[in-house]
Amino acid sequence: MPVIRSIVAANWKMHKTAADTAAFFDAFLPLSASLPPEIEIVVAPPFTAIAEASKRLRGTRILLGAQTMHWDLEGPFTGEVSAPMLLEFRVSHVILGHSERRAACDETDRTVNLKVRTALAQGLTPIVAVGESGNERSAGRTDDRVVAQTRAAFAGVPAAELARVTIAYEPIWAIGTGRNCDPEEADRVMATIRGSLDGLDETPILYGGSMKPENVAAYMAKPNVNGGLVGGASLDPTGFAMLIANAAR
Ligand code: PGA
Repeated sequence: MPVIRSIVAANWKMHKTAADTAAFFDAFLPLSASLPPEIEIVVAPPFTAIAEASKRLRGTRILLGAQTMHWDLEGPFTGEVSAPMLLEFRVSHVILGHSERRAACDETDRTVNLKVRTALAQGLTPIVAVGESGNERSAGRTDDRVVAQTRAAFAGVPAAELARVTIAYEPIWAIGTGRNCDPEEADRVMATIRGSLDGLDETPILYGGSMKPENVAAYMAKPNVNGGLVGGASLDPTGFAMLIANAAR
């Protein structure tokens, strides 16, 4: 099996103003100096805090992400943000297809695919989120769901390009609930995701859903887990630093 890099990505969702972001990095940057260098760290603040984050992260090892973007490069799309607008602030990663956006912002498999293709064409790394609802899990449809979402997200993307993407397996019932998916089961589903398309052998696959400093090591011990997409536990600088430190153990 190839060695796949490990990534811990913070998804701040609709938390933190620009001032809060500055305060976070005031506390987090000194801590980050002693964090394990083998873990790639990404922070995805809200759009309004990206300029501040970009300023603070210049010259550091921490990479900047966005939480969504439009698939067109410019045009009459009120309220939307494009890849060139993100690149201007040295954003390198973009979360696409998060379940909250699929549920509340009309993001579909089709628009996720359009966004993935634009992100790759523009040199951004998409972090594509897939995952089943509680009802889909109870109905035994977990594997079908994540395989369908993965194939749809990368439709038309050549297999050779898939090493440039990141996938996040996020069971919807585990997000923000404190009910994290059993690491063994997460690893099984993540192996299914990896096997769903040619070209995913070297693709980092992250677990997301109530990941915490206390449970991250159990996930990282699994062969198909290459890191985490972290919501609630990424908001506090000390806790987030601890989670990253524990990810490397
Ligand atoms: P959580 O969110 O860590 O708060 O469960 C993860 C996510 O939605 O990306």
